[in-house]
Amino acid sequence: MTETAQPKPTKKVFIKTYGCQMNVYDSERMKDVLAPIGYGPVEGPEGADLVVLNTCHIREKATEKVYSELGQIKKQKAKTGGKMIVAVAGCVAQAEGEEIMRRAPVVDLVLGPQAYHKLPEMIARVHRKTGDRLETEFETLEKFDALPKQRSVDGPVAYLSVQEGCDKFCTFCVVPYTRGAELSRPVDDIVIEARSLAAQGVREVQLLGQNVNAYHGLAPQLEGDAEWGLGKLVRHVAKIGGFDRIRYTTSHPRDMDDDLIAAHGDTPELMPFLHLPVQSGSNRILKAMNRGHTREHYLDIMRRVKEARPDIGFASDFIVGFPGESDRDFEDTMDLVREVGYCIAYSFKYSERPGTPAAEMFGQVPEEVKTERLHRLQALLWEQQTAFNQSKIGQTVPVLVTGKGRMAGQVSGRSPWLQSVYFEGSEDLQGQIVDVAINHATQNSISGELVRTREVAL
Ligand code: SAH
Ligand code: SF4
Ligand code: F3S
Repeated sequence: MTETAQPKPTKKVFIKTYGCQMNVYDSERMKDVLAPIGYGPVEGPEGADLVVLNTCHIREKATEKVYSELGQIKKQKAKTGGKMIVAVAGCVAQAEGEEIMRRAPVVDLVLGPQAYHKLPEMIARVHRKTGDRLETEFETLEKFDALPKQRSVDGPVAYLSVQEGCDKFCTFCVVPYTRGAELSRPVDDIVIEARSLAAQGVREVQLLGQNVNAYHGLAPQLEGDAEWGLGKLVRHVAKIGGFDRIRYTTSHPRDMDDDLIAAHGDTPELMPFLHLPVQSGSNRILKAMNRGHTREHYLDIMRRVKEARPDIGFASDFIVGFPGESDRDFEDTMDLVREVGYCIAYSFKYSERPGTPAAEMFGQVPEEVKTERLHRLQALLWEQQTAFNQSKIGQTVPVLVTGKGRMAGQVSGRSPWLQSVYFEGSEDLQGQIVDVAINHATQNSISGELVRTREVAL
């Protein structure tokens, strides 16, 4: 694809994104493939020429949302005299493509996560009323090769997918089935995309992958056929220039190698924040989940990362009520949370997913037990999150300003630990990193006073 100036949009596309950051990234890339054929993004489905639902299959609730949203979209489509094209993309499309076509005739197109580059061609098929309207093949690198190398981004923070798919097969999880086998993009491609982001003023880049620290890409132009791990990639992206902050997500304890841990100590651009999901604190449950690591292994990694970067903040995901989880197992999770002390965490009730091994396991936990455990776990995690936020009171924190605040005259931004920060300041500060003296903290954010701007406004 050539990198020419985009035509002025003549058609409207509304993309609604569910699920993880990979989907957010994919939705951005869909906009990039649609721009050359005249589609400009709009904020709602009303009067849109094209509506794309970029879906998530991770828990039952996430999947249900898609069908209820399609009911709404049907009304909007009727208002356009049936002209609106409706596409379902993402992980539900991959898992239930044919069923969607059957259950929801409003849908014109179904495309899995590896088929976005085919969107223009599929739209043409709908107009011609010929050809396949379901694309769910796995051809990950073909997708990346076919996507435009230049990105068009808005604001100082951007995602960059470096790895896709998963080979871990945790027994509860649909991702290996919806995203396919683990695959790393070549370093050279990532560098081209990263440069385009830096050139557009991006200050903070978040490297993405379902298992981002399993990254093992080739760097043919830089180093022949040597494979690079994530630590090396992070250091290289730091050298590109322009990025003050680098993050990566989501990682797996099994792939937390020595070099990546060392990068936390030797690369100042790598933010002091690690989202390393543990799921459970019980070795018995971790085994049944096929996580491939123990509680002790996980705690050892946390200890080593903290040694490399003492101000690091930890984040995790938890599942409560996995089949067979006893009170004792759950207490092990509570214990582990107390031992680590998280600055933020996401916790879920186990949701049975069709086709995964855990769905067939004995000892499914009753709903009310799951609810009770989730409440207890979340109360503890919220307490820790509030305490972490309060620990910043009295400190001066560097904040990347990303937008308006909640009140007039206020702006908002993010701290190195991904906290939302609010303070009084001018909107011209957007895109700058400024120092804020923190004097207030709640469960979800911190706030304070602007101490100094470090940069001259452009
Ligand atoms: N690759 C990441 C996570 C991807 S899914 C990792 O390995 O950690 C994001 C989170 O959703 C998971 O960490 C897990 O906590 C949760 N999750 C996945 N499958 C689930 C299920 N069947 N029920 C409840 N939560 C689930
Ligand atoms: Fe799912 Fe496990 Fe893979 Fe994470 S590592 S995406 S939880 S199978
Ligand atoms: Fe959901 Fe697919 Fe992401 S199932 S969490 S959108 S990889």
